[in-house]
Amino acid sequence: MRVLSGVQPTGALHLGNYFGAMRQHIELQREHECFYFIANYHSLTTINDAQLLRELTRDVAIDYLTMGLDPAKATFFRQSDVPEVTELAWILATVTGKGLLERAHSFKDKTARGLPVSMGLFCYPLLMAADILIYRSHLVPVGQDQVQHIEMTQDMAGYFNSTYREVFVRPEPRLNEAPLVPGTDGQKMSKSYGNTIELFAPPEVVRQKIMSIKTDSTPVQEPKDPQRCNVFALLKLLADPAETAEWERRYRAGGLAYSAAKQRLFELHEQLFGARRAIRARWAAHPDDVEDILRDGGRRARAVAQQTMADVRDACGIVVARL
Ligand code: ADP
Ligand code: TRP
Repeated sequence: MRVLSGVQPTGALHLGNYFGAMRQHIELQREHECFYFIANYHSLTTINDAQLLRELTRDVAIDYLTMGLDPAKATFFRQSDVPEVTELAWILATVTGKGLLERAHSFKDKTARGLPVSMGLFCYPLLMAADILIYRSHLVPVGQDQVQHIEMTQDMAGYFNSTYREVFVRPEPRLNEAPLVPGTDGQKMSKSYGNTIELFAPPEVVRQKIMSIKTDSTPVQEPKDPQRCNVFALLKLLADPAETAEWERRYRAGGLAYSAAKQRLFELHEQLFGARRAIRARWAAHPDDVEDILRDGGRRARAVAQQTMADVRDACGIVVARL
């Protein structure tokens, strides 16, 4: 089974990225052939500062390595080290109706908010489909917000296969138990909403973010519904099942101050991520090692992509001379 996923380097990774995507990426590397990449071409739809993009790309790589991505098990690379994906995105565009792309949430949300939409953002699902199809991936582990893009990829694979011949495998999305992690304001945690709790921010910043999580005004002594509490939603991701059950009991019993749950959330965050700050600092001090890992991954990924592209070009009659 071939597994593939990508993450955009648009800012520091947060709990939504970790519990929605990164954790399953790291778990899957033990059992499957995994390809994970940093989607820097996609980021150009939001980041237009070269130095910043280079830094964010390196930071995402460091975060993954810190959390246990093993480059000996998974192929870990930069999207741009396989430039063939942009060629495939073009070819997919020629068999895809404009109406399909007009239905993408990412495009509709921006339009609804009156924000300008570049052709890059409009065509975003084409590039994502190319990322998935070029490696003939079976499984794409992501959070809920990306499922529509994978369904579009299935459609595009079908359009190509029926126009030419069976070249592409039909990929399936894979969600884990936390497909939609809430942010400090209760909406989906997202870099673009400013409601994130980052994995590796300094402890005082993490604490301040956790203390700012929105809660209701139920008085301390009254019973509370854990299922409607943003703090509990995060707590249960970090605590073990026995501790989660105990918090659930305390919520329902009354007498619980939200600040106690927040304090525990902070401690658990420190245990899981804070404890790895030293490992992260070590990777950050060795950027050449990070670069070597990405380059090696890029080489392996590109070899697979080039094989698929030879098949794609042959199927549609595109001739490329060896110059
Ligand atoms: P953001 O929305 O912060 O820009 P990305 O789009 O870069 O995050 O997402 C990277 C991965 O993390 C994707 O697989 C996405 O589905 C997942 N993800 C992002 N936010 C969440 C969330 N709040 N809950 C669950 N998964 C998420
Ligand atoms: N669109 C994804 C995100 O914002 C990133 C991404 C790009 C991706 N290409 C992909 C995810 C291919 C899975 C497969 O999170």
